[in-house]
Amino acid sequence: MKSALRPLVRASRPRRVDLAEALWRLERDEAGFLTLNSVRLEGLLARWGSPLHLLDLKRLDENIAGFVEVPAGAQAACEVYYSYKSNPVPAVLSYLHAHRVGAEVISAYELWLALRLGVAPDQIIFNGPGRTPESLRLAVERGVLIHLNNREEIDLVARIAHEVGRRARVGIRVTTALGWNAQFGESIPSGAAMECFREADRRLDLDLVAVHCHQGKELGTEPQLHAFLDHLVDFLAALRSQLRVEPEIVDVGGGLASRTVTPLSRIDQELNQRFGADLLPRPPEEVLSIRRYVALVASRFEHACRLANIPRPRIYVEPGRAMTGDTQMLLCRVMNLKQGGAGDLAHAVLDAGVNIAEPVKNRYHQLFPLGPNGGRPRKPYRLVGPICTPMDVLYPSWTLPELRRGDALAIMDSGAYFVPFATSFSYPQPAIVALDRSKEYLVRRRETFDDMVDRDLPGEVSTIVAGEESRPSPPDDRLRHRTVDAVPVELVAAPPLT
Ligand SMILES: Cc1ncc(COP(=O)(O)O)c(C=O)c1O
Repeated sequence: MKSALRPLVRASRPRRVDLAEALWRLERDEAGFLTLNSVRLEGLLARWGSPLHLLDLKRLDENIAGFVEVPAGAQAACEVYYSYKSNPVPAVLSYLHAHRVGAEVISAYELWLALRLGVAPDQIIFNGPGRTPESLRLAVERGVLIHLNNREEIDLVARIAHEVGRRARVGIRVTTALGWNAQFGESIPSGAAMECFREADRRLDLDLVAVHCHQGKELGTEPQLHAFLDHLVDFLAALRSQLRVEPEIVDVGGGLASRTVTPLSRIDQELNQRFGADLLPRPPEEVLSIRRYVALVASRFEHACRLANIPRPRIYVEPGRAMTGDTQMLLCRVMNLKQGGAGDLAHAVLDAGVNIAEPVKNRYHQLFPLGPNGGRPRKPYRLVGPICTPMDVLYPSWTLPELRRGDALAIMDSGAYFVPFATSFSYPQPAIVALDRSKEYLVRRRETFDDMVDRDLPGEVSTIVAGEESRPSPPDDRLRHRTVDAVPVELVAAPPLT
């Protein structure tokens, strides 16, 4: 029944038109191979091994400039704090920090990493719904800005500050009716956010300097951004009139959409999965550019402050996906081909699956063959990963020039939420190579099999086998330091963050 409907449904739906390779500055050489900065991607894959994350430093430079430069007509720039969790690769983080971008961290580990990378404490924002008292204490001692996630944290952080003998610099995370709430922040509409400010403002151990609001749901268009900012501007006015509180800092979080990644609706996913209907990218020009986003954020608050006759607050942004998403691509190869199967589709087994490309499951990520494909007929494929589970499907139905074993593909926009969600499920995690013009830098080496068992010391395994209680493992600094040490000097040689 389903296979009878397939051609009908497919024919009734629009056909995919691939996003242009030029959006990522990719070009084809005379032999038809995909290149970046005149470097053949197929050659990179052959040199460094597959799968491989490729980081495009030129695109990263462009994105950084878009965020940190003073927007036309604005009084001042926004201050930029990169959301560590979106791509916590030390070389990427160091590069950002060397170019006027601070750190937004959400865990003890990320706080440790920012300090380890030499980020000045006043260039770190500590967010998150679940932080250990030890990490909060460290943040207070160093003067890191802590955004209190909820009312219950007021007491905890004030107590820590009292013990440390230093006022804690804090903001309060608030939520609007538009985006995430749940475990994040205190609600503006319910009045809880106002109560939280009232209480925190009275505590002598807290220096209440900021309001923080991360919408969560992506901000892709001007109306979406305006609606979000209007809620915040109204809340700031209410804080002023009800509590006489004027935060020195307004932190609008992250959430700016990536122009070349499209969230997929359930229906799109179902139609693609069951009937082979094409997945469609949204037109990139419909999504706010980084520069436009920054300009709108700055002008909205500057306008509101002019009307209220108050000084402009410092404006913080915490981009994740918009800063690094399109700076990376995941290169991979076809490991195996199987004709027939579900939906009568040919199955192509890639060496990248949900283990390292999880976001592809519910977002449109453009896919390009790396080699010349002239003359090969186009065929629909189910592109799956190498993990031995039916859940390892990346592209349920995707039409491509006929594939052969060993063919190479690029999954675009792997620079946000690929690396942090990656697991070592049956396969080691890939290397990351940065391309700076035509120079290649290994910034993270491929995980080895030894790495995968590094924490399983033989002594402890045998203890469990003997049925005794397991002992805590001794501290092992080797893994922690290895990736940091792999940062090439040239990549971090830019002037330090001021
Ligand atoms: C508090 C906070 N700030 C910034 C970000 C980055 O978000 P995005 O990658 O959508 O820009 C996140 C992501 O969840 C977040 O929770």
